[in-house]
Amino acid sequence: MDTKAKIIIEGKTYEYPIVTGTEGEKAIDISALRKDSGYITLDVGYANTGSCTSNITFLDGEKGILRYRGIPIEDLSDTASFVEICFLLIYGHLPTKIELEKYSEAFTKQSMIHEGMKSFFDGYPLTGHPMGILSAMIGSMAGYYPELIKPNPSKEEIDLISVELLSKVRTIAAFAYKKSIGEPYVYPRHDLKYVPNFLNMMFNSPTKPYEIKPVIVNALRTFLVLHADHEQNCSTSTVRLVGSGLANLFASVSAGVNALWGSLHGGANQAVIEMLQKIQTEGGDIKKYVDMAKDKNSKFRLMGFGHRVYKNYDPRAKILKSRADDLFRELNISDPLLDLAKKLEDIALKDSYFIERKLYPNVDFYSGIILRTIGIPLNMFPVMFAIGRMPGWIAHWKEMLEGAEVKIGRPRQIYTGNNVRKFIPIEQR
Ligand code: SDX
Repeated sequence: MDTKAKIIIEGKTYEYPIVTGTEGEKAIDISALRKDSGYITLDVGYANTGSCTSNITFLDGEKGILRYRGIPIEDLSDTASFVEICFLLIYGHLPTKIELEKYSEAFTKQSMIHEGMKSFFDGYPLTGHPMGILSAMIGSMAGYYPELIKPNPSKEEIDLISVELLSKVRTIAAFAYKKSIGEPYVYPRHDLKYVPNFLNMMFNSPTKPYEIKPVIVNALRTFLVLHADHEQNCSTSTVRLVGSGLANLFASVSAGVNALWGSLHGGANQAVIEMLQKIQTEGGDIKKYVDMAKDKNSKFRLMGFGHRVYKNYDPRAKILKSRADDLFRELNISDPLLDLAKKLEDIALKDSYFIERKLYPNVDFYSGIILRTIGIPLNMFPVMFAIGRMPGWIAHWKEMLEGAEVKIGRPRQIYTGNNVRKFIPIEQR
């Protein structure tokens, strides 16, 4: 098996080591390319470029495989709690009973936010998108918990800042929602676990007590577990890049929230529902939208379809689709948007445009249907994605910091602007 790759540039042959991962993935390590040849590579969007090696998540886009620390997502999504998944991703193994009890206690202890943080909500416009307040609040945690942002944090400090973020992110999200609807904050309770605690903070109110239904808890648990990590996606790569400058975890994750906000990434779950609602309002003409998605001039894309890595059905979409069916059956309700989504999927998957480009439903296609049924407001869908992705962001930041040496991320470019030219004083322009 070749252990080196040969590149011939201007008649000269250069050899570079081949790196093989534990699942047989192969890469050419071109770290010395520029020093040797003066050349760099160009790969807009990094579709063919690996930024690091990682032990956290493995996915195979062709086979539709996704595993957290080697465990298939299908085995985790049925029963693992979200706190268990946080532990697995961040520490590399499933927690023992004692480890899980201690970890869960730490989440409970850290669930309150600093009272001073509530003033942010007072100043933030009620109509502002909650992803804006989420990234601002997470960034502000560096000011409220300065003891947690010392350079070169110890293992204990990383453990503490991780739990701070994982636990408080749901309180920040729930408080942002309560503020936006003019209801009093509902504080975290020490007798409730992660998901029921969040649901209670979101939906309980003095005038209308909220019944925490196990079927809803399970649906949201599944959603969070399925969103927990996805190797070097846009937002996780952002967290790594910001963290590579030795910025603290609050700053790195705040940047990750902003990267996730985009409609091509974590904002897609909101965009899918807006698309389905538009199709429904306009009379359900699915073919019109499928044709628009195929027409480059329309600039319209079928939201929730396609993926940079999955060229097969996103395994998370498969699970979410069946979980949505379970939810409606157990609640004995239906949602016309689910029927519309299934019809849209059916038409698209039989269309040569989607087949040739291997465009399948991704994690965002069915997730919004579940969030809608739980009662999460549409503009909070990306916030739910951020809560789910929090352990993944932290695990990658921690893995990078614990690596041999943190190398600041600094890609190169090919300059295509003006060649050297004179400055013309204003009088002569
Ligand atoms: C997430 O990376 C991750 O892991 C992300 C994520 C995670 O867990 O972190 O999985 C979460 O972000 C899922 C993706 C959510 N986004 C959407 O659903 C938005 C709609 N999808 C796309 O815009 C698109 O598919 C992307 C952004 C997801 C992927 O874009 P790529 O890899 O850059 O693919 P591309 O734009 O080069 O598309 C290849 C072809 C193009 O056609 P041609 O130029 O070859 O003729 O496929 C077409 C595209 O026009 N295409 C679509 C399409 N997606 C791709 N055409 C219509 N509708 C679509 N949705």
